[in-house]
Amino acid sequence: MPGRIHEWPAWPEYNTDNSTCQDQDFINAKKAIIEEFGPENLQKAWIRVCQDLSSVTDEIIRLGNEIIPICSAEYIVENGFSSDEQEWIKRTGCAIVRGVIPRKEADMLYTEMHQYISDNRDRIKAWPAETPSMYEIYDSPAQNAIRSHPNHLRLQKLLNGLWHDKSGETSSDPLIYYDGVRDRPPKQVFLGLGPHIDAGSLSRWAAPTYRKVYQSIFCGHPENHDAWDLEVRKDAVQDLFKAPSHSSVFRAFQGWTALTPSKAREASILLYPNVATTIAYLLLRPFFNPPKDEADIMDATKWTFNESGCCFPGTEKEESQYLSRSSHPHLRLEECMMHVPDIQAGDTVWWHSDLCHAVDPEHGGAQNASVAFIAAVPTTEMTKTYIKQQLLDGLAGRQPSDSQGKVNETLLKGYQGHGSLSEDARRAFGYYI
Ligand SMILES: [Fe+2]
Repeated sequence: MPGRIHEWPAWPEYNTDNSTCQDQDFINAKKAIIEEFGPENLQKAWIRVCQDLSSVTDEIIRLGNEIIPICSAEYIVENGFSSDEQEWIKRTGCAIVRGVIPRKEADMLYTEMHQYISDNRDRIKAWPAETPSMYEIYDSPAQNAIRSHPNHLRLQKLLNGLWHDKSGETSSDPLIYYDGVRDRPPKQVFLGLGPHIDAGSLSRWAAPTYRKVYQSIFCGHPENHDAWDLEVRKDAVQDLFKAPSHSSVFRAFQGWTALTPSKAREASILLYPNVATTIAYLLLRPFFNPPKDEADIMDATKWTFNESGCCFPGTEKEESQYLSRSSHPHLRLEECMMHVPDIQAGDTVWWHSDLCHAVDPEHGGAQNASVAFIAAVPTTEMTKTYIKQQLLDGLAGRQPSDSQGKVNETLLKGYQGHGSLSEDARRAFGYYI
């Protein structure tokens, strides 16, 4: 089956027995949800969601990575997503859009980026410490050229437009969120980002504004959960527990723009191509204890309601939300985490803010594998405030507050500023907020 993992990597399993935990933030979050929605509704939702996952996972396993929608930038920049594409992206929560940056241009930008990193290597930071490849640079000429490319801006707007908000207080006009770049050399093993979901961890349960996004799940009707409702999501506080791994800004889609080719086991990305049912399962999981007999594990009716304690498998306040085979068995991660199909320079990969994904632990290719992290961020009151501050910070030589970096990028060799940005790009960078 295309995209399937050959051998499960040595990603951590999350111990589900933390009954000795005394962390009040976890205890209070659980208590608040039980009080608000009641055990019966949570139990009803659990049974329903496990049932639904059975058919969701069967379909993913049957289709392999062919379930991931692939669109052509050439078509959609002109015409927008077709209704079939929209429906498919909403169902899977992810998409590949090919050819957003023309190949030759992407090759050139990679060369430029590589040179910029090498010219400034002693001043810029990168992680992980032992094998640095994630570079904390945000305002380089190559990044800005990609973000402000008319195809890219148009695509960001189309992706934002897949969300809806009947309040009329937001718009799909894109804003540029500064994120870093990756340039990963061949043979570099990376186990640091196994199956996980970004956009906060415990905040999903603990922040009342965020919890509201998932109200129908906790109410006992996970089938009614609308994963594309910006009206509630726009106010959700994702970073109640501040940490570098949490973005304070809502990203409708997180995205990769490839600067070099990649493929399975060659520094690719793995996606779990379902959003609504998966997030419902993740959110309900802390309220249930697994059956003692391993043979009953997939039978949701044998799981028992767990009212007390703070058993939130894979949840740490300062980290992204992690998932594992043993802690989240109904997701059948081993069979459903899919390598995306082969990617070429200039292609983009997009995933919904609630989508489970993982970085390829292997890079068996012969060349560096490089991507620029560029998200699709709609215009909301919260995103406007952050983006404006990000712009002012950047122009004054301060790195974005989410990054917590301390490098003055305006002093780096090759820094060019924003003089070549188009009017549309300046708008997206926050110049008119
Ligand atoms: Fe991530």
